[in-house]
Amino acid sequence: MKFNLGKAGEVEIIQVFKGTEELEKFNELYSYLREKELFKGNLGEIYSNIYYKGDKFILLGLGEKEELNPNSLRTAYFKVGKELMKFKERSVNISVCNFEGIEYEESISAIVEGLLQSEYSFEKYLSEKKTKPSLENVYLDVDIEEKLAENIIKETVNLVGGIFFARDLVNEPAMYMTPQALADAAKSELDPLGVKVEIFNKEEIKKLDMKAFLAVAEGSVNEPKLIVMHYEGDPDSDEKLALVGKGLLYDSGGYSLKPANSMVTMHSDMAGSASVIATMKALAENKVKRNVVGVVAACENMVSGGAYKPGDIIGSMSGTTIEVLNTDAEGRLTLADALWYAATEVKADKIVDIATLTGACVVALGHINTGAITNNEELMDNIKEASKLAGEPVWELPHNKEYKELIKGKFADLSNTGGRGAGTITAGLFLEEFVDSTPWVHLDIAGTSYLEKEAAYLPKGATGVPVKTLYYLAKEF
Ligand code: BES
Ligand code: MN
Ligand code: ZN
Repeated sequence: MKFNLGKAGEVEIIQVFKGTEELEKFNELYSYLREKELFKGNLGEIYSNIYYKGDKFILLGLGEKEELNPNSLRTAYFKVGKELMKFKERSVNISVCNFEGIEYEESISAIVEGLLQSEYSFEKYLSEKKTKPSLENVYLDVDIEEKLAENIIKETVNLVGGIFFARDLVNEPAMYMTPQALADAAKSELDPLGVKVEIFNKEEIKKLDMKAFLAVAEGSVNEPKLIVMHYEGDPDSDEKLALVGKGLLYDSGGYSLKPANSMVTMHSDMAGSASVIATMKALAENKVKRNVVGVVAACENMVSGGAYKPGDIIGSMSGTTIEVLNTDAEGRLTLADALWYAATEVKADKIVDIATLTGACVVALGHINTGAITNNEELMDNIKEASKLAGEPVWELPHNKEYKELIKGKFADLSNTGGRGAGTITAGLFLEEFVDSTPWVHLDIAGTSYLEKEAAYLPKGATGVPVKTLYYLAKEF
């Protein structure tokens, strides 16, 4: 799909708000459809007039004028993309309007993203592909300076490329996507963009004293890797944002084994790390003027004679000791050392961690909101702003001191589970113990990073959430 500026293309998109009385073009047909209640202009509603001769056009409903926002525009144009694909159309003409309440640049970006989103599928293992992109040229008729429009288009294309990259990493089965494979993918994608990628092997991880990370990794034949990525977009500043992603390439639960059904999608337990690697890629491609360091403790949580056991008391890079009450609460153990590394070795000014951390988060917020916990309300506000731009909802959870009681250990400093209640909060507060008072936000993406069923422009399987939020956070705040 190529984006061009100007008025051309075979199929014209006619945007119609709900209740529109008259159209400039094709009003006769529109009046008829309206009268028969065949097209009402509801958000995302489509009537296509595509045949071999004459005017080809699609009526696209945009709903109530006052309610339109960038995310509904993305979804509407996702549907346009799917419709054009259905008819195997190769070019389209879209005139970008000045929508009330939406920045013009945001509208361009939303339309571009929606169209691109319609082409994603993970079908590399399907003998017969179901998604067959046809759109070759998109013509956008814009009324801002060409250079500005071109830059927004390019930025959006790169950002969506990042989202697709994250999805591909997450959708790949664990038999191929090992810690080594993830490290290789990070290196091969980021190195050419000038991002320095360090990969620490097991021996080097031992030297760093990452005892909690190593305890989780012990059960697998695939060795752990610590992946550290340095993007220096603003050499004049020494401010650094660290993005720390949970990188469990597979989570069987370990000896606290998961039920068979819960295990099937646990190759996606590295969605946090994928979002970090992909965000670094998009930032570097767009030459965003910020310094960002990505940290991923990549390993697998498996069962074997050497695996860690319920009841074990393990150490950590920070020196804090941890009682393992449940080997399935492994993410917080790998993150404990990754966060401590970000705080004390990277010396980051701010830290955001992204993790498929708790089933409790899915129970509380479903697949709509990412759960969030912080020790710094200002950084949390920045995340909330970024998530609005991204159309990726985030919901902040409380972090009263009282919850900390729940993760105190009996025979060690901390225990790795906090009992049945408030599972997402206690997991988040466990992580806080390892950020060394650095301003920090924890994002629990257990519900939002992977879907059983598609939703709006998000496909089934990996969604790429929250790549956009992280990108806008790094760029705008
Ligand atoms: N990776 C899981 C959390 C998860 C569950 C992600 C469902 C995506 C979908 C995590 O490692 C885990 O197993 N958490 C436990 C923690 C519990 C043992 C305290 C959970 O949520 O059950
Ligand atoms: Mn687990
Ligand atoms: Zn896990």
